[in-house]
Order: sequence, then structure tokens, then C-alpha cells
Amino acid sequence: AAAEKGGYEHFMIKEIHEQPKAIRDTMTSRIALGEDVKLDNIEITKEDLEKINKVYIVACGTAYYAGVVGKYVIEKMAKISVETDVASEFRYRDPLIDENTLMIVVSQSGETADTLAALRLAKKSGARVMVITNVVGSTMAREADDVFYTWAGPEIAVASTKAYVTQMVALDILALHLARLKGTITKEEGEEFKKELLALPEKVEDALKHKEVIQKFASKNYHVKDMFFLGRGVDHAVALEGALKLKELSYIHAEAYAGGELKHGPIALIEDGTPVVVVATQEKIFDKMVSNIKEVTTRGAKVLAFATEGHEEIEKSVNSALYVQKTHPLLTPVVSIVPLQLFSYYMALEKGCDVDKPRNLAKSVTVE
Ligand code: G6P
Repeated sequence: AAAEKGGYEHFMIKEIHEQPKAIRDTMTSRIALGEDVKLDNIEITKEDLEKINKVYIVACGTAYYAGVVGKYVIEKMAKISVETDVASEFRYRDPLIDENTLMIVVSQSGETADTLAALRLAKKSGARVMVITNVVGSTMAREADDVFYTWAGPEIAVASTKAYVTQMVALDILALHLARLKGTITKEEGEEFKKELLALPEKVEDALKHKEVIQKFASKNYHVKDMFFLGRGVDHAVALEGALKLKELSYIHAEAYAGGELKHGPIALIEDGTPVVVVATQEKIFDKMVSNIKEVTTRGAKVLAFATEGHEEIEKSVNSALYVQKTHPLLTPVVSIVPLQLFSYYMALEKGCDVDKPRNLAKSVTVE
């Protein structure tokens, strides 16, 4: 079993370290500078795309949070409005679907019961259905019109890490493809975006180096009952996934909020010693996050902040800070989730939890 884990103590930490490679494998053969995006099993044409007036991204769990990031990227790049929903809600709410709808389902396994049901409902209602999945020949891959395979390799740990980052990269590449087909971004803008995508593996590699700060914060806080995660924009999506990871692995109650919502409820729960994780990678709203930090620290919160390099001033207002390398603002989630994955891993280790097989959870939920 030790050999299977490639010298790592757990599958999860092995898979966290495999992320640079997983991202590289998912990009290779699809994007190259100076060339159009090449997507083997995606046949949507410019004409097909012209009639699409709405995109749904539907998934469960971590794949859903990849979809939440995808919404920002597709809307911004391809200028189509995107709605995200969890599959178990989507399938029972009579969603408005027709032949002008593009449905993107995201599923590591390609077998999750609710996601599959949502896919079938969309197909029956005339939508164009795309799947982003990690498993070749899975049920969803067989039933969808278009397939985007993430090349993350087998993921053994129940909590998804490398599959998640490749799902985001897949949505980024897809957004680029749709935007170029539609002409909503220029060739130059596309090239710029590609350059940033291609630099991601190295930036993720770098993000893996920050274990010490995280381990230290974890060793001081693993005994807590509640934690909060704050972020705005794509950082909110990262906060949601970070909180989910912490719940799954360490059984600590964790809630993620959009920074602006702090005043509308969660701030009532901040007391002396409450740990708060703040994701603040977005240049445009950095100051807003600093205000959020002040709001919680004045009430006694202990803050662990994630920012991009160049924002070291954040240290003045927090207990611990960690920096990831700068990238395109829409691509920061791929990098900033890495220290959050490490955080939940170390919190679980401190608590003595079974990180690869958390209680009550299944790798793939194939019955409703
Ligand atoms: C389960 C797993 C999660 C996963 C979710 C969706 O809850 O524990 O890690 O995100 O299912 O799985 P899928 O295979 O559809 O991505």
C-alpha cells in the first residue's frame, strides 16, 4: 500500500502533489500558443453557439464548486449568461430548458446519480449537453453530445483535489474555446489567456511549498468547532470549496460566505478566537476584503489570509498570511485552492481523522 501511495502518507496528499501534472496533462494537446484550441470530442460549432442563449452548469459536491468558478469565466469570456445549480435541485425544479440551452455537467466519476439524471432531463428537453469528466467511457461520457476529459488520472482519496483543479482548467479552456468561436475576445486576448493557463502548473507547484504557515495555523486551531471562510467573486467559490474540504476531512463545522454578506448574519457568530480564512486574490476588490478582515478581527477573530504576492501589507491586519503567485484574475482559484486543500489535510491530521476515507462519505454517489 505504501508503494501505491508513492512514498506519501496518504492518497490525498499524493494527489494534491500530482496537481501540476494533472493540469499539464489536461492542457497538453488542447492548447498551444499561436494555435486554435483543439478539443477532440467537442463538436459545437459557431452556428450552434449562435443560438445558445443560456448555459447551465450542473454538478454535485466539489464538481459543483468547480462549476461556480466556471460561471465567472464563461460569462466574462464568452458573454453568455450562466446559471449554476446542484444536480439534486436542478432535476426537481422544472428548469427552463430548450434547444437554445447549453448544459454543462461536471462529474469526476461520470456516474453520480443526480448529475446523470440532470443530464438526461436536459437532453430530453432538447438542450445541447456537454460533460466534463475524468472517466473515459463513463455513463455521462457515453450519453453527452460533447465530452471534455480531464486527465487527472485515477483519484483514490474520497475528497476530490486533482480532479477538481482539472475541472476548473477544463472550464477555462472551454470558455476560451467558446469565446474564440463567438468572437467575444480577440486573438491576442486569447493568446494572453493561454499564456496564463500554461503557466499554471508552475504556480501550483509553488503553492505547494507553503506547508509551514498552514501546518502552524492548523496545529493552533484544530480543536475549534466552527470556522468561517470569506471571499468575493471567484474567491467566494474558492472559499466554498475550502469550507467543504474542511468539513469533509476534519469534521469541523465550516461555512463560506461572500465577503459582503458578512454583515447579514455570520458576523453575529464571530467571537474571541474564531478562526476565519480569508481568500483575497482579486485586485479589484482587495480593499473590500481588507475591510472584511478588520470587521472580524475587531471582534476577536483569528485570520488566516490568502493573497497574491505583492500584497504583503495584509500581514498588518491578520494572524497568518500566505501568498500565491499572480495569474489572470479568473484563474486564481486553480492556484489558491492548493493551500486550502493542504489546510484541511493538516487540520484532519492534527485531529487524527481518516483523511483518505472520511466517515459517512462515498467517492461516488451512484444511488440517490
Ligand atoms: C461525492 C464525493 C465528492 C464529489 C461528489 C461528486 O460527494 O465525495 O468528492 O465531489 O461526489 O462526484 P462526481 O464524481 O460527480 O464529481
